[in-house]
Amino acid sequence: MKRILLQQRGRILKMTTLALGTSMSSAENLLAKWMSLLPDEKRECVASLKPAWIDRWTNDWMQFAYGHQRPPEITVGGKPWTTWLILGGRGSGKTRAGAEWVRHIALKNKAARIALIGETEHDVREVMIEGVSGLLHVHARDERPLWIPSRRRLEWPNGAGAQAFSAEDPESLRGPQFSAAWADEIAKWRHAEATFDMLQFGLRLGVQPRQVVTTTPRPIALLKRLIADPATVLARAGTRENKWHLSPAFIDTVFARYGGTRTGRQELDGEIIEQRADALWSRAQIESCRVKAAPPLTRIVVAVDPPASSTKRADARGLVAAGRAENGMFDRRRHRVRAFAGRLGAEGDRAVAAAGGGRAHRGGQSGRRHGARGSRGGR
Ligand SMILES: Nc1ncnc2c1ncn2[C@@H]1O[C@H](COP(=O)(O)OP(=O)(O)OP(=O)(O)O)[C@@H](O)[C@H]1O
Ligand SMILES: [Mg+2]
Repeated sequence: MKRILLQQRGRILKMTTLALGTSMSSAENLLAKWMSLLPDEKRECVASLKPAWIDRWTNDWMQFAYGHQRPPEITVGGKPWTTWLILGGRGSGKTRAGAEWVRHIALKNKAARIALIGETEHDVREVMIEGVSGLLHVHARDERPLWIPSRRRLEWPNGAGAQAFSAEDPESLRGPQFSAAWADEIAKWRHAEATFDMLQFGLRLGVQPRQVVTTTPRPIALLKRLIADPATVLARAGTRENKWHLSPAFIDTVFARYGGTRTGRQELDGEIIEQRADALWSRAQIESCRVKAAPPLTRIVVAVDPPASSTKRADARGLVAAGRAENGMFDRRRHRVRAFAGRLGAEGDRAVAAAGGGRAHRGGQSGRRHGARGSRGGR
């Protein structure tokens, strides 16, 4: 209701004014009036609204949508977009925006075939379909699709359909084809690249297949790639932008506790935070030491931090090769460090060790190799 009162459109103001029994004509005054009512008076006021008005208001999403929730027209370059990427803080209205966009697509086009992809099967069902901002909730009763859990399908009365997928199983996207897709919380997906790639191969129906991606950001390669893509339109929003629909206690608590912190900047402001607060070396420090070619090095040490297992879910492997410049100085400019962290097998270790050994040879001395977690033998 607060939101209705805040609408700047004349039609809404007029109707609300009537219901509140006031001649006030500005949204702020109406809100003040509304806030001054006792709970019973508020109930009476809402009860006096004609059901047709309420239906119209609640179903007309564009009356309520914030800027970041309105589907864009074109990309920054003036071309039609393929990906609408909504990066937002917690509770900023990302899921609602995704669900409303799918609703719009399905109601407009009876031939729509839509993919719904969440972090897990549970998330697709509990958040994207049955959740408070989910698809079933955002539809009016007479337009609501039928959810068939056993087939993980949504079927609209007009013939449009959507299929639910889990990002834990990228291969399940092999086969079906779609005219639109909604991907929720991709920054949390376990197989983000593989699942997203599989989706792209199936997004091939209709004149302009499109996808909306809604997520609280994290510094993952897929997000950076999407942001850099000229066919992407990026929308951003912080938690506070949706404060009218979140508990004031929640807003006060989370901002008091996390406001300005690294966690707060990511989870509340929706920023991509590259830097760990507890990092020993900042990215800027590393960048300032970068050189095109290392000078002759007198001693090279290669260290490996291996993961405990080699399964798909194993941690990243850390590799570093460090060398000392010929004059023996060991300062920031002369101490050259090459580092890598990733999922490489034993070949990766051997490659980096070989790189270290090669430089040592050029520097005229033998290199030494040891493991960061215990020695792997020297030479
Ligand atoms: N424009 C809006 N008008 C009315 N209610 C809204 C609007 N946008 C969001 N909401 C409501 O605000 C609440 C939070 O929205 P939503 O669940 O979409 O946030 P979210 O960003 O997906 O949150 P999370 O980070 O937890 O996934 C929901 O109750 C949703 O229906
Ligand atoms: Mg959400």
